[in-house]
Amino acid sequence: MATKSLWMDTAVAPQAIPLPGDERCDVVVVGSGIAGLSTAYELSERGRSVIVIDRGPIAGGMTARTSAHLAPLCDDLMSEMQKIKGEEQSKLFYESQAAAVDRIEEIQKNEKISCDFRRLDGYLFQGDDMPPDVIDEELDAVRAVGAPVERLVGVPLSGCDSRHALRYPQQATFHPLKYLAGIAEACTKRKVRFFADTPVEEIVEENGAVTAKTARGLIRAGHAVVATNSSIVDRVALHSKTSPYRTYVVSFAIDRGALPDALYWDTEEPYHYVRLQPGDNGSDFVLVGGEDHKSGEADDADARFDRLEQWARSKMPMLRDITHRWSGQVLDTIDYAGFVGKNPGSEHIYVATGDSGQGLTHGVMGAVLNATLVTGGESKWAELYSPDRKPLKAAKNWVLENSTALKNLAEYVAPGEIGSADELEPGHGAIIREGLKKIAAFRDAEGEIHRHSASCTHLGCHLHWNSFESCWDCPCHGSIFGPEGHVLNAPAISALKPVS
Ligand SMILES: Cc1cc2nc3c(=O)[nH]c(=O)nc-3n(C[C@H](O)[C@H](O)[C@H](O)COP(=O)(O)OP(=O)(O)OC[C@H]3O[C@@H](n4cnc5c(N)ncnc54)[C@H](O)[C@@H]3O)c2cc1C
Ligand code: FES
Repeated sequence: MATKSLWMDTAVAPQAIPLPGDERCDVVVVGSGIAGLSTAYELSERGRSVIVIDRGPIAGGMTARTSAHLAPLCDDLMSEMQKIKGEEQSKLFYESQAAAVDRIEEIQKNEKISCDFRRLDGYLFQGDDMPPDVIDEELDAVRAVGAPVERLVGVPLSGCDSRHALRYPQQATFHPLKYLAGIAEACTKRKVRFFADTPVEEIVEENGAVTAKTARGLIRAGHAVVATNSSIVDRVALHSKTSPYRTYVVSFAIDRGALPDALYWDTEEPYHYVRLQPGDNGSDFVLVGGEDHKSGEADDADARFDRLEQWARSKMPMLRDITHRWSGQVLDTIDYAGFVGKNPGSEHIYVATGDSGQGLTHGVMGAVLNATLVTGGESKWAELYSPDRKPLKAAKNWVLENSTALKNLAEYVAPGEIGSADELEPGHGAIIREGLKKIAAFRDAEGEIHRHSASCTHLGCHLHWNSFESCWDCPCHGSIFGPEGHVLNAPAISALKPVS
């Protein structure tokens, strides 16, 4: 994608080369975001030989686009989770996510990783023109799972003196890529091997083992853990229970000390959030995010950033210039918990997917859970995150989210967005109709036109142009393609088909 986040100046395992040929190991981990690298760390600590392989650079996926709140509580509100999962499962969810934050704290301390990790207060506060009921409902739900919480009035943002709020002590944040660079170093010392720029095309399971197939060679292993954010080993089952949402972040410069270091988010839908990140020379960064929408269903990033900026400056008049603007994608699940564990129908393939905007803690929790399962252990979290669960109470969300695919297929009979590729300005893309075909057309800076089928190579949904990130988004299950047709985000494996 075209933009660069605040974190991306930090390289993770820059020594990683493409796969040179066939390899063997105990466990092959596919995907090198926080889920994949944490899994490699946990498994190598348990004495397993591990290979991590990624389609692109190490840690170049959604983890590099995060906003870095380490939250032990449900991102979509504990009260909402309890309506679907009940009190006992919600309690287990809180305990497992809190354990993930503890694990990050422990690892960065043990491995001496300088990643700006710190514990701090989180404030959930009443949104503009919102009633305070959500705060009370959430207070009851958070108390029910046993998490520390305090009810108060007023948060240290401008005009928010009388807002009803909840204070959560012991939340945390860090620099995600500095943390992963440290994890990768620790893994390298334990002989974990990293291969970059090598897409895995298929994972086959036979004779009690797995083979990850790539164009550059095969990796034979006892087990595979698929940590590609959106799963590449499942065609439909998991994807029908997750939905991709695009989400936006803008960062501002701020004088150090001008805003108390805490995490702030409101009760609006989608919510706004504020986080701080240390900078240099007495100047820090404030990250403000939100304005989420279902992937591919809007192409108006500038308007969304304008609204975010307006909201941010009204709450923090001391903000200085904008330093970065970027977007990314999260995969919401129908019952707010991720899918971690054995891939449905497989014996030796494990998955970690469905981050629900809480992918950092899900990634670390999932690594501990999958490492336990791969090494033959049992976990009290296994049922909660089981990939083959069918949450009946979430049926309404399932129907709602899957209506996207039906709506999307109807687009194949709609007219094109422009009459012909000649109308495209350099750097722009649009959908063209040619007879019965829909073409994803892009004109590059040199004026050359790239024409591909507008049909996603995962399951055939109709793609949408994203002018802010200069990519093709698939609204169905989150695949993203570059303007020239190459895959940027799973579940797609193959590039878009060129059309002459
Ligand atoms: C703007 C934004 C803000 C967020 N804020 C927060 C937050 O505050 N707190 C929080 O907990 N979460 C947050 N999230 C979510 C969280 O950052 C992500 O869910 C998480 O980082 C995903 O990690 P991952 O390891 O699963 O995936 P990724 O980091 O995307 O890693 C997956 C890797 O798999 C690789 N891959 C894909 N297909 C293949 C293939 N075929 N072969 C080989 N490799 C492949 C990719 O190249 C990629 O490197 C945010 C996300 C965004 C976008
Ligand atoms: S991601 Fe599944 S059809 Fe595009």
